Amino acid sequence: MRPIIICYSRTGRNKKLAQQLQQILRCDMEELIDRTDRSGWWNYLLAGRDSMFKKMTTIEPEIKNLESFDIIIISTPLWVGTIPPAIRTFLRRDKQKIKRLAVISVSMNGSQQRAIHDIENEYGNKPVAALFLSEKELKSGRHKTRFDDFVETLQALQKVKGDLQR
Ligand SMILES: Cc1cc2nc3c(=O)[nH]c(=O)nc-3n(C[C@H](O)[C@H](O)[C@H](O)COP(=O)(O)O)c2cc1C
Repeated sequence: MRPIIICYSRTGRNKKLAQQLQQILRCDMEELIDRTDRSGWWNYLLAGRDSMFKKMTTIEPEIKNLESFDIIIISTPLWVGTIPPAIRTFLRRDKQKIKRLAVISVSMNGSQQRAIHDIENEYGNKPVAALFLSEKELKSGRHKTRFDDFVETLQALQKVKGDLQR
């Protein structure tokens, strides 16, 4: 099965982790750009509001041939406990093209409850694998065991031949 990582990262943490995952899985990766300015403290507040109210935004690029990938791995921070507008927009726009979804996330406290519920709602199905890490876990290296388990799950899926239906 062929995976692709779709990454959104405002300050680079999720991008860095996504790049590590990409190297291990040797897969494609695309970075989503949010056309709304998310820099500075005022935009930080607006970003929190937009996320809380489940707002959409304008994202780039349009990812070609998304249907040809068997697993889409979204890499995302959490904003006010849930997915940021760029990832929400991606899921709403492209969910019909997603055969299987996996999630990897670094956020300040790594709390996943609301985010996973929201992702399932937007996508309409459960992710096949999910890893929510805190910044502290990542910095200390304590994430390694959980990260390795997540990678193992994805590698096992990569080895499955053929296309299982959603
Ligand atoms: C508007 C906004 C709201 C946030 N809300 C949360 C939150 O509710 N819980 C949390 O753990 N982290 C929260 N964060 C922190 C980010 O998830 C965290 O810093 C993450 O590591 C950033 O990833 P990035 O560098 O890939 O952008 C928030 C950040 C922003 C910008």
